[in-house]
Amino acid sequence: MATLPTSIHWDGADLYLLDQTQLPLATVIEKQDTVEQVWDAIKQLKVRGAPAIGIAGAYGLVVGLRSQIQLSPPDFLGELERLAAYLDSARPTAVNLHWALTRMVTVARRLGEEDPATILITLEQEAIKIHDEDRRLCRAIGEHGLPLIQPGMGILTHCNAGALATSELGTALAPLYLAHQQGVEFRVYADETRPLLQGARLTSWELQQSGLDVTLICDNMAAHLMGQGLIDLVIVGTDRVAANGDVANKIGTLGVAIAAQYFGIPFYVACPYSTIDFATAEGRTIVIEERGEAEVTHFGDRRTAPLNISVRNPAFDVTPHTLVTGLITDRGILRAPYIESLKQHYAKV
Ligand code: MRU
Repeated sequence: MATLPTSIHWDGADLYLLDQTQLPLATVIEKQDTVEQVWDAIKQLKVRGAPAIGIAGAYGLVVGLRSQIQLSPPDFLGELERLAAYLDSARPTAVNLHWALTRMVTVARRLGEEDPATILITLEQEAIKIHDEDRRLCRAIGEHGLPLIQPGMGILTHCNAGALATSELGTALAPLYLAHQQGVEFRVYADETRPLLQGARLTSWELQQSGLDVTLICDNMAAHLMGQGLIDLVIVGTDRVAANGDVANKIGTLGVAIAAQYFGIPFYVACPYSTIDFATAEGRTIVIEERGEAEVTHFGDRRTAPLNISVRNPAFDVTPHTLVTGLITDRGILRAPYIESLKQHYAKV
């Protein structure tokens, strides 16, 4: 892990984000001077992955409020709520962004009439707590998922739910990193993940940098490899888990889950508690982000589709809980019925 640049860094005064759109060709770290810059970094996927955008959003609030401490306490809280709603508007599907911003607002409200400088210090401490807590959650997910990784396995993953998408280690990739550290030998297959190629640009890169045996495939090759007996296990991350266990994740995940069920391959979804959304009863009500046409009509800078073609670009899909073998969480592997197991482990969080 030592060779990977961290996606989010707070140096005690300023926020730095790794620009993931430039990976794997360039490692560019940008200092974030304004809340607008942080919003844009989230929108443009410079920082991406559900836990990472939650952490970045929390620090983004601190960045935006630094210049506002001359306000009266009520006006400062009003500004905090305005900026939280603004940051939350950057991306709709991953609940971690909303979760982290709500946590920040709740902490500030508790301080009531304290002076804004004191509230700001508490907000900074809370953002650091969210960041540190994510490290522990990822490690716990890794430890609970570790027994699933057996010698000689072929393991498929989709999108990037690794170190780059979190504080470190990742969610779906955490068990793989821990198994590798323990000397277990296995092969990872990374779906390239059209249209933005998180699998090719990020997952295959971070696994390769960390010394794991990784093979990159195009998305449309996964079912073929399953049919050839090369895949024993699928592990993916998620952007939102509904109360019934339906999971939203990067577009293409649903197809992988359907193929895995057809071939009798276990399909696991890894997530921290910050991704579980009890306010959403089932997956079909999750708002799916639609992104710009150019991501589909172009490959890099080159146009690959006719002019004036109609395009759809949903960035996520929802996999029904019936296709999920288990949820690898920070509190253990949860099994169906998820409506019960999720409530039992997390309703009081
Ligand atoms: O659009 P992205 O790159 O932010 O999508 C990320 C994913 O879909 C990840 O699988 C998910 O956020 C889990 S990250 C631990």
